[in-house]
Amino acid sequence: MSGPSRELDRRHFMGLSASAAALACTSTAGRAEEATATISAAPRPSRAPAVLVGSRNCLAGMKANYPRLVAGEAPLDVAIDVVKVVEADPDDRSVGLGGLPNEDGVVQLDAAVMDGATHNSGAVAAIENILHPSEVARLVMERTDHCMIVGRGAYEFARAHGHQHVELLTPPTREIWLRWKETMSDRDDRLPPRGSSKKKQASRSREEAELLAEADAILRDRPTGTIHCSALSTAGKVACTTTTSGLAWKIPGRVGDSPAVGAGLYCDAEVGSAGATGRGEAAILSGGSHAAIELLRGGASPLDAGMEVLRRVTRQARRAAAWQPGLVDGAGVPTFGLNFYVLGLDGAIAGVTLRGGGEFAVADPDGGPRIEPLVALHET
Ligand code: GLY
Repeated sequence: MSGPSRELDRRHFMGLSASAAALACTSTAGRAEEATATISAAPRPSRAPAVLVGSRNCLAGMKANYPRLVAGEAPLDVAIDVVKVVEADPDDRSVGLGGLPNEDGVVQLDAAVMDGATHNSGAVAAIENILHPSEVARLVMERTDHCMIVGRGAYEFARAHGHQHVELLTPPTREIWLRWKETMSDRDDRLPPRGSSKKKQASRSREEAELLAEADAILRDRPTGTIHCSALSTAGKVACTTTTSGLAWKIPGRVGDSPAVGAGLYCDAEVGSAGATGRGEAAILSGGSHAAIELLRGGASPLDAGMEVLRRVTRQARRAAAWQPGLVDGAGVPTFGLNFYVLGLDGAIAGVTLRGGGEFAVADPDGGPRIEPLVALHET
């Protein structure tokens, strides 16, 4: 037996011995419960507020699934069902079906789940043609000894578990991708359709005109969408998931923060749960979700923890701007978007963002599922 396994077994044995000794010394059921609790590091409030917190696009999924959390269902089951609503929504351009593709026009998805109760996680990255990568991430957690499976292996793993092959590039996202290909450079051979004449513009259907306007907005402001959901159950247990189609037009195989435990999500049964949406590279380089949890552990509120992570991200971006000048503006404020969603075991929540504007979704006993404004570090 290897060292680490032996260490695990020794600790397990010592935990059981301590528990048995404690139980032998207790005569009442109440004291026996107390002794059993000594072998569990995590505090387990018997009754906690049911809370969901996550990115704005969680709202529909929260409305559909929050009652199940209130009824006592497991936080991971509920969190995954929240994000699956958007994974299957062809109109969300940042997640799953209808998500914007990579530079080759292929939709590659990243997703992860993490369960505070078992402190286990699973993830898939750069997976193609699978509708619900969050479910596959859960299978990685529950049906393998691994934390992450990528690319073709992830697809084959999903297929082996019965997931269907699905074309995730929709007609509108194919059109938007083509427009990006045709307008990104005047030094290649692609040309956009000759559509500038008044006659041509007038002949466009309303759908075509709307799609063109959407495409032009996307080309101006390259999206790094994503959906994250953290959940606290009435039993005081936390879990979370993050799932995304990643950065639009990414280099094929690029993996963002969403499947990276500690970056795009993290939870700990002793502390709470956190997740990120926005520029994945910044969440990875700051270890942002893990940092938020460690700040909570040290006594910070969810708001203070989130803001401190964003201050670190800002300092890191300023240093990185030495060779990537576009990362910050003239005032030293990051030009990219990055949000964190933080949840404590007492049900306290925060949604924070680098720059002004933006909203997040929350569901708690105070007001049910709703949208709240993100708190911005830099007012711009
Ligand atoms: N946060 C999503 C990504 O950067 O891929």
